[in-house]
Amino acid sequence: MTHAAITGWGKCLPPAVLTNADLATFLDTDDAWIVSRTGMKERRISHVPMGELVHVAAARALACAGVRAEALDLVVVGSTIGDELAPNVASGVQHRLGAKNAAAMDLNTACTSFLYGLSTATALIRTGVVKTALVAGGEVPSPFVDWQDRNTAVLFGDGAGAVVLEATGREEGLLSERLGCYGDARGILDIRGVGARYANLGLPYGFTVWNFDGQEIFKRAVVGMSAASEEALAKRGMAIADVDLMIPHQANGRIIDAVGRRLGIDPAKVFVNVHRYGNMSAATVPVALTEALEEGRIRPGAHLLLSSFGAGLSWCAHLVRWGERTAPLASTEVDLPPCGKSALELVNELRARRARYHEAARAFIEAARPLLDAGAR
Ligand SMILES: CC(C)(COP(=O)(O)OP(=O)(O)OC[C@H]1O[C@@H](n2cnc3c(N)ncnc32)[C@H](O)[C@@H]1OP(=O)(O)O)[C@@H](O)C(=O)NCCC(=O)NCCS
Repeated sequence: MTHAAITGWGKCLPPAVLTNADLATFLDTDDAWIVSRTGMKERRISHVPMGELVHVAAARALACAGVRAEALDLVVVGSTIGDELAPNVASGVQHRLGAKNAAAMDLNTACTSFLYGLSTATALIRTGVVKTALVAGGEVPSPFVDWQDRNTAVLFGDGAGAVVLEATGREEGLLSERLGCYGDARGILDIRGVGARYANLGLPYGFTVWNFDGQEIFKRAVVGMSAASEEALAKRGMAIADVDLMIPHQANGRIIDAVGRRLGIDPAKVFVNVHRYGNMSAATVPVALTEALEEGRIRPGAHLLLSSFGAGLSWCAHLVRWGERTAPLASTEVDLPPCGKSALELVNELRARRARYHEAARAFIEAARPLLDAGAR
């Protein structure tokens, strides 16, 4: 049987760091609240579009695997809000990499997008459709964050991570997974203002209002990730004690703790970096996986339990057997262009732009009032 080994890994974090103190300069919040409720201390703000972060992470993953871009058969970019819809983000990454033999597709299941992409690419390798694939998770939520809303603005950060998958006869890579969705709860995490539905209403693209029930998301996330983890383990007749490292979606330190307690895993076996980056949505798991390797937390042959949840409400867990190699074969010079601004300067620019959108949305609704009123009669 063919398996899909993870042979390369890479991350790209934009350099500008937004601290909790920075957020407190324009929001009614403070470091103590954010740290105690989320575990987050800082997050990154990107000066480039998401596709550029994904490209750098992907180039690093390819170098790590010792795989040439031309050898790729498939590029999958998982994210919630891509830079553009047509053409998709993956085609831009394919082009920048020079992966001219690869198919390129975007995949959106919100924060679970990277792991759903891992399932998709693994299945295509197992069935012989492709041999070598790149799967990335990237997210740049900063332009879509409602920077006036302290309930959501403190939670998110920008970043990207990627892995290379190669067909192998060895039993490694994805061993089992469980994918699911609480579609009945899709309204509890609903970013209003991005998508054709909103364009139909005439709203300027990106003028977002976050419909967000934090406590309900929290509860569903804990139940969904724990149940999926147990099912993924059970499919292989394994128990939580067999897991060497759990790498969960980094949305909130308290959610990670609650999932760990429910599963009964030793906290020393749980990888956490939410304090550094906040919730980078689809990027959290590949970035955490890369950092776990960089920190020597993954041994040859280790069993990893990856899990996530996101808008939809999608949820999943993936059981992975690591291969022999835990160090990159090579590195690359590919990097982001320099960023001449602080994260707070970047965010203040986004806030100013958003204020203009707000005016534009109001102006549109005023101008359309006769039409809307006539329609209402
Ligand atoms: C959002 C979240 C951190 C809130 O934590 P919580 O423990 O549920 O917070 P509580 O509901 O107990 O507290 C909310 C109170 O804090 C206030 N608050 C919210 N954000 C705040 C902030 N940044 N600073 C200070 N106070 C804040 C609220 O206004 C509310 O005040 P009130 O009680 O006077 O109305 C938490 O619910 C969460 O992480 N949920 C999951 C969300 C998520 O990860 N979504 C992404 C999915 S991929």
